[in-house]
Amino acid sequence: MKTSENGAVAALAPGKRIGIIGAGAMGGALLRGVLGSGVALDAVWAATKSDASARTVASEFGIATHTTYAELTSSSDVLLLAVKPAQLETALRELSAAGLRADTLIISVAAGVSIERIEKALGGSNPVIRAMPNTPSFVGQGMTAIAGGSLATKEHLAIAERLFGAVGLCITIEERLLNAVTAISGSGPAYVYLIIEALADAGVRVGLPRDVAMTLVAQTVLGAAVMVQESDRHPAALRDDVTTPAGCTIGALLVLEDGKIRSVLARAVEEARNVLEGTSR
Ligand SMILES: NC(=O)c1ccc[n+]([C@@H]2O[C@H](COP(=O)([O-])OP(=O)(O)OC[C@H]3O[C@@H](n4cnc5c(N)ncnc54)[C@H](OP(=O)(O)O)[C@@H]3O)[C@@H](O)[C@H]2O)c1
Repeated sequence: MKTSENGAVAALAPGKRIGIIGAGAMGGALLRGVLGSGVALDAVWAATKSDASARTVASEFGIATHTTYAELTSSSDVLLLAVKPAQLETALRELSAAGLRADTLIISVAAGVSIERIEKALGGSNPVIRAMPNTPSFVGQGMTAIAGGSLATKEHLAIAERLFGAVGLCITIEERLLNAVTAISGSGPAYVYLIIEALADAGVRVGLPRDVAMTLVAQTVLGAAVMVQESDRHPAALRDDVTTPAGCTIGALLVLEDGKIRSVLARAVEEARNVLEGTSR
């Protein structure tokens, strides 16, 4: 994260007040990552639906957390919406009723909800950015893709890039690709957790204590990902480095191919995308 000498808020969004509406799994992950990167606490506030959640969030992150937030809404420059897609319409109505300013930047992370829908719900006067982050933002290793609506300027996109860049990688893409992004990197951590769990079970099957198996698997997945990012080589070339002729790795890889691992993964991602687009059978 790029921090300024007198605090990171200046680098993130100079002089801007940021509200995070919805501080559950995703909003909480972003809060944790952003605050951990040095943002001054008084410039960020959060909102939840219930008092119980507000108390938990306030004590966990040490920031003001509210269940009614009209005054804060009208004095905020950036509002990050991290409520469930089904809760978004209500939250947008509440924001409009709270006197939302037309120049307040709205950033939504709601999966499958288009910029057009959000713009319409707000009367078409606010700049809107749709973002798809993922939960590893919690540990500063998130992956976020953002797309800007018709009123979103380069400066607005730069604010979102800095916000999500504080908790991992952030790229800007066309909105039409965001459901595909969601199916890969939004849902992706869940696929990887399943694979990690399965590999740890496999380690137990061949005699390793479970904690040892989990340590080996998690570090191996992390190491392989960093190799792909940093070596600039194709995964197939990296795989060849591990594959000794007539050795154990090629034997295991053939078993994985027998199980159609490539098409299973591709079909899973396609299904996630179809669910988002309402075309799942
Ligand atoms: N989880 C992921 O991996 C992931 C990845 C990418 C994107 N997303 C997106 O992130 C969004 C949030 O998902 P989540 O998994 O974080 O959901 P979640 O854990 O259920 O959190 C939702 C949060 O919104 C609050 N809330 C609901 N209605 C509200 C309102 N009217 N005003 C203020 N706060 C309100 C809830 O408060 P209470 O606790 O009081 O109910 C809770 O803090 C979704 O749109 C999802 O598509 C999630």
